[in-house]
Amino acid sequence: MENSGKTMRDDSAVDETGPGAGADTAPRYHSGFGNEFATEALPGALPIGQNSPQKAPYNLYAEQFSGTAFTAPRSHNRRSWLYRIRPAAVHHPFQPRAAGHIVGDFNSVPPTPPNQLRWNPLPMPATPTDFIDGWVTMAGNGSAESMSGCAIHLYAANKSMQGRFFYSADGELLVVPQQGRLRIATELGVLDVEPFEIAVIPRGCRFRVELPDGAARGYICENHGALFRLPDLGPIGSNGLANPRDFLTPQAWYEDVEGSFELVAKFNGLLWSAAIDHSPLDVVAWHGNYAPYKYDLRRFNTIGSISYDHPDPSIFLVLHSASDTPGVDAIDFAIFPPRWLAAENTFRPPWFHRNVASEFMGLIHGAYDAKAEGFVPGGASLHNCMSGHGPDADTFNKASQADTSKPHKVTDTMAFMFETRTVIKPTRYALETSQLQGDYFECWQSIRKNFSPESR
Ligand SMILES: [Fe+2]
Repeated sequence: MENSGKTMRDDSAVDETGPGAGADTAPRYHSGFGNEFATEALPGALPIGQNSPQKAPYNLYAEQFSGTAFTAPRSHNRRSWLYRIRPAAVHHPFQPRAAGHIVGDFNSVPPTPPNQLRWNPLPMPATPTDFIDGWVTMAGNGSAESMSGCAIHLYAANKSMQGRFFYSADGELLVVPQQGRLRIATELGVLDVEPFEIAVIPRGCRFRVELPDGAARGYICENHGALFRLPDLGPIGSNGLANPRDFLTPQAWYEDVEGSFELVAKFNGLLWSAAIDHSPLDVVAWHGNYAPYKYDLRRFNTIGSISYDHPDPSIFLVLHSASDTPGVDAIDFAIFPPRWLAAENTFRPPWFHRNVASEFMGLIHGAYDAKAEGFVPGGASLHNCMSGHGPDADTFNKASQADTSKPHKVTDTMAFMFETRTVIKPTRYALETSQLQGDYFECWQSIRKNFSPESR
C-alpha cells in the first residue's frame, strides 16, 4: 500500500503508517451529548468568527456536514463544519457493488411469521473478512428511501479494513460490540470501542474499522429515521439512566495519505464502490454537534422498583429515535445491565407479555435473567408485535419460589434490545440459516396449568 503522507493527532504524535495500519496512540475525547464541540489537530486550523472564510487556515477546504434539515429547530439541529485537505466530492464515480448478506429492501423479504424467533451467534468467518464484508442483515423495517425504520445487522470479522473506507447514507450506525475491540477511525476522529461500550457513527460519516484483537463480532442498528437522542427523564428528575457527560466524542484527527483506495457507500439500500486516490479521513479541524460518539454501558444508572412490581422496560432506555407521534418512539435502545432486584412479593424476572412494539434482543455478556438457557452471548431473539413471550418454564418455576424478602443482585449479564414501533421483518438469511433455533418455542411448552378453582 502506497503511503506518501503522515498521520497526525492533536497531541502532535506522528505516525508514518498508512490506512489500515492503525493510529499510534489512544484517542482523545470530548465529554457530553450533542454538544457544540470545537477541535483542531493543528493549532489555528479552525477559523475564528466565521464558518467558511474565503481562505481557510492551512489552505484547507471548508465543508458543512448536516445530519438534520437546515431548518430543524435549534434544539434538534445537528451539523458540523469540517476543515479538510480535500472536499468529500473528490472521488471517482460510484459503481454497483455486491452486497453479500446486506439487505436494504424489507418489502421483498419473505412473509414475517408471528413466531417467537431465536438465533445462535453468527460464526466467525473462515476466510479473511473485514468489518464491511462481515455484515449480515438479520431484520428490519421501513426503508432508507423513506427515511424511517431501521435495519438490524450482525457483524463478524477477522481482518482490519485496509485501503477501504465506508459510509452509510441510509442511517446512523449504532454499533454494539459483543466480542473483540474496534478501532473506528472516522473523518471526525478515532473511537476505541470494546464490548460493553457502544458507538454511534453519523449518517454519511466516512470511516475505517481496525480490529486490535484480530476477531470481532457484534450487532448494528442502522437507524433510517430521526437521530438517536437521550430520553427525557420525567419524574426521575435531572439525573439518571445514561448521563450526558459519559458520552464521548473524538477530538479532531487526520491522515494525509495518497494511494489507490476504495470508498464504499451504502446508499438507498444497496452498496456502491468508488475509487479514491487519498484517504477521506483528512479532516484537520471541525466544530459542531454532528459527530460520532461512544458510551460505556457499564456507566448506566439503572433505575428500578424498591417496593413491589417490575416496572416497564422503558426505565432501561439508553437512546431513542423519535417518531412523528409524541411519546411513541420509532426505535428504543434499552439495556438490561447488572442490577439489584429488591421488589418484594414480586415475580422479579421480566413478566409474560405481548406488546404493540416489536423487540429484537441481543446478549453481550453472561446470561439474561428471563431465560435459563438458549439465549447466549452473540445470539439474538425476535418477538414481534403481539407475539406472546416471557420467562421460560425453568425461570418461571425458580422465580415463583424465590425468597423476595431479601434483595438479589443480578450479575454477569448485559443484554440489550432494539425495540421498534413497526413490525421487524427477518430477512431470508435469518429465516433459513442454521443459526435459527427451530425448537425455541419448546421453552414454554412445559409450563403447566396450575389453576384450581378450589385453591386460591
Ligand atoms: Fe419482551
